[in-house]
Amino acid sequence: MASSVVLARAPLPRHIGIIMDGNGRWAQRKNLLRTQGHLEGLKTAKKIVKAASDLHIQFLTLYVFSTENWKRTAEEVGFIMGLVKQHLKAELNFYRENRIRIRHTGDRGGLPPDIARELEEACEDTRSFEGLQVILALNYGGRDAIVRAVGRWLASLATEPSEKRLQHGNITEERIRGCLDNPDIPDPDLIIRTAGEYRTSNFLLWEGAYAEYYFSETLWPEWTEEDLRVAIVAYQRRERRFGGVGP
Ligand code: IPE
Ligand code: IPE
Ligand code: MG
Repeated sequence: MASSVVLARAPLPRHIGIIMDGNGRWAQRKNLLRTQGHLEGLKTAKKIVKAASDLHIQFLTLYVFSTENWKRTAEEVGFIMGLVKQHLKAELNFYRENRIRIRHTGDRGGLPPDIARELEEACEDTRSFEGLQVILALNYGGRDAIVRAVGRWLASLATEPSEKRLQHGNITEERIRGCLDNPDIPDPDLIIRTAGEYRTSNFLLWEGAYAEYYFSETLWPEWTEEDLRVAIVAYQRRERRFGGVGP
């Protein structure tokens, strides 16, 4: 569908993060099971991935399942995990055709082994693609990501020369960043949250330090390419200062 929202060529956000919220409410409003909402949400996710790819966005991080989402019923958790697995299996051609690379952020070791395996295979299969990079935040928590980064750093100390060992002066932002899941990925420029919630819910705490936030009232299953464009236009009108002063 042609969109009526015209984007300026620049500055396009290099990296967009999306907190895809509102699947449950969408289903409840329609008198459906919450799981139906997740099914519909997955359709939206595929549409938005294609739209971001067509817009030549370089990185798109999708918040799929948080480290706190295990608090939900076993039925709902199992359904979401099953959906992810099925999607990665069935849609690999979609990613191949669009030269989209799949990546993961989150605690892979804490995922059911079959999901972790499927994810690893999808990442491996698409590793060489040079188009959009879609980062699936699955069993992801911003605090957990920092804890795991510190753990990696500590594990690496044994092999470090003594002058690089953990001392106060050696603890730098760059070294912590280097221990995150994907140190090569630039910080998100734009973080979108749908469904009228105004909180981070543990998403990209470190990397989102200077992201522009955009909140939408629309529930995720009803989000469209047009909404993505509107969010990007809003981003393009922002003045980013990074703690400095305006022009
Ligand atoms: C987001 O939708 C998807 C996940 C968190 C897995 P929700 O399931 O949180 O939907 P609401 O917030 O209950 O409407
Ligand atoms: C954040 O949404 C997690 C994902 C979208 C995967 P939640 O629905 O879990 O967040 P809260 O509970 O409203 O903060
Ligand atoms: Mg929610």
